[in-house]
Amino acid sequence: MRLYRSNLKVILPPTGKYKNKNMDHLKDLLETKKTTYLNELLDLLRIPSVSADPAYKESVFQTADFIKDKLIEAGCDGVEVCPTAGYPIVYGEKIIDPSLPTVLVYGHYDVQPADPLELWDSPPFEPVIKEDKIYARGACDDKGQMYMHVKAFQNMMETNSLPCNVKFMIEGEEEVGSENLETFVKAEKERLKADVCLISDTSMIANDVPSICVGLRGLSYVEVEVTGPNRDLHSGVYGGAVANPINILSKMIASLQDENNHITIPSFYDDVAVVSEEERKAMNEAPFDLIDYQKDLEIDKIHGEDGYTTLERTSIRPTLDVNGMWGGYIGEGAKTVLPSKAFAKISMRLVPNQNPDKITKLFEDHFKSIAPPSVKVKVTPHHGGDPVVTPTDSLEYKAASKAYEKTFGKTPIPQRSGGSIPIVALFENELKVKTVLMGFGLDSDAIHSPNEHYGLFNYFKGIETIPYFFKYYTEMKTT
Ligand code: BES
Ligand code: MN
Ligand code: MN
Repeated sequence: MRLYRSNLKVILPPTGKYKNKNMDHLKDLLETKKTTYLNELLDLLRIPSVSADPAYKESVFQTADFIKDKLIEAGCDGVEVCPTAGYPIVYGEKIIDPSLPTVLVYGHYDVQPADPLELWDSPPFEPVIKEDKIYARGACDDKGQMYMHVKAFQNMMETNSLPCNVKFMIEGEEEVGSENLETFVKAEKERLKADVCLISDTSMIANDVPSICVGLRGLSYVEVEVTGPNRDLHSGVYGGAVANPINILSKMIASLQDENNHITIPSFYDDVAVVSEEERKAMNEAPFDLIDYQKDLEIDKIHGEDGYTTLERTSIRPTLDVNGMWGGYIGEGAKTVLPSKAFAKISMRLVPNQNPDKITKLFEDHFKSIAPPSVKVKVTPHHGGDPVVTPTDSLEYKAASKAYEKTFGKTPIPQRSGGSIPIVALFENELKVKTVLMGFGLDSDAIHSPNEHYGLFNYFKGIETIPYFFKYYTEMKTT
C-alpha cells in the first residue's frame, strides 16, 4: 500500500467563520489528509452492510452509527440516526446562514451482497489496495463515493470555507429499493428543504474524460412463478404427458423479445420519448470504443435492439432482462425430475416517459395471456422507480461543470446512464428539488460484481472537486 505523507503545512488566510472564499488551499490540505481519509474509508468498507441479507442486520445498523460519528467529527450539527421500518437514515446538517442556499447531499451506506464469493481475489469486506485501487464491496457503490462528501465537507469546515448550508441524508436501503425512504421524505419535508440535491452514485467516462450523469433509467422489477403439476414428478413416468414449468417458462421468456430484440409486450413502447436526431448524434460523439468494450467483456459480438448503437441501447432505450431463473434439480449429478415449479426474476429498465406501475401491469397482463392452460402463472411486483433526465442549462449543472473544469482541467461531457436511482424522481416530486449527479466512479469498477473497486485517484479527485461545486453553486445562486 502506498502511504501518503506530506510535510506540507497549510497556512490559512486569517478570515472569520465561513468567510474564506478562496478554496485553492483545499488541495494542499487534502494532501496532508490522504492517509487518514483513506484509512477511514477502509474502516467503513470493513463493515459488511448488506441490506438484502438479514444475516448482516447488525452490521447495517453499525454502519449507520459509523456514519453518524463521522458526520459529527466533520462538524455537522443535529446528527441523528433516524429509525425507519427498515434500516435507519443518517441525517446531519450545517446551517451557517438561512439566507444562503442549501445543498442536500444524498448517498447510501448499504451495499449489494458479495456473492459469488469464490470469484473475489480478496475477501470483499477486507479491503486491499492494488494498483492504486481500493478493492472491496461498496468501494465505489456507494461507500467510497458517499464518504467523499463527508471529507469534502470536513475540509471546508476546517478551513472556514463552507460557502452555504449543507444537509446530509445517507440511507441504508438503496440496494433493496429505498422503500422506507419515501415515508421519511414525505414526513420530513421541512427538515429536508433544500435548493438542490447532490449525489455521487454514478460513473464518468474515464479518468481523463470527465462526464456528468444527466439521465437515469427507471425500473420495473417482477418475480414470476410458473406452476405445473402439484408436486415434483418422475420425468420418465410422467415426462411427455405433463407440462414442464421450466420448459414453459423458458419459452414464455424467449417470446418477450423478437428477432430484432424488440420487446413484444403490447403497448410497452407507447410512452417512450423520442430522442431527437441531434441529441442522438451528440450522444454518439462521446468517446467509446466498441472493440475495447467487447474485449473487456470477452464477448465476440455485442447484442441489442436493432437500429440503436451501444451507447443508445444503454441509455435512451428500455430493456427487459432475466436476472435469475431457477427450479427443479440444481445439485450435484443428475436427478430425473419433472419439477412442479419454475421461477424467474425479471427487470425492465425504463426511459422517459414510461411509468413503472403501468409497465408492471402491461407485463403482468401479457405474461398471463401467453401462458398455456397447462400451467398457472403468478406475477409478484418488486420495487420500481421512475426514469429521470436532468437539464444541462440549469444553474446546478453549470456549477458542477465548472467544478470539474477547475479540478480536471477539462469540460465534462453530459451523458445519460443506464442505471437507476429511483429516489431522484422522489426528491423532485416530494421536495421539489432538482438533483445534480456528480459521480466519480467508472463503469469498469465492477459495482454489484466480484472484485468491486474504486480508484484512489477517483476518491481524492471527488473530495477535491465537491467543494468547488459548493462554491460555484453558491456564487451563481446568490448573484
Ligand atoms: N449506484 C447505482 C446506480 C447506478 C450505477 C447509476 C451506475 C448509474 C451508474 C445504485 O446503487 C443501484 O445499483 N441502483 C439499482 C436500482 C435499485 C432500485 C436497486 C440499479 O440500478 O440496479
Ligand atoms: Mn449506488
Ligand atoms: Mn448499487
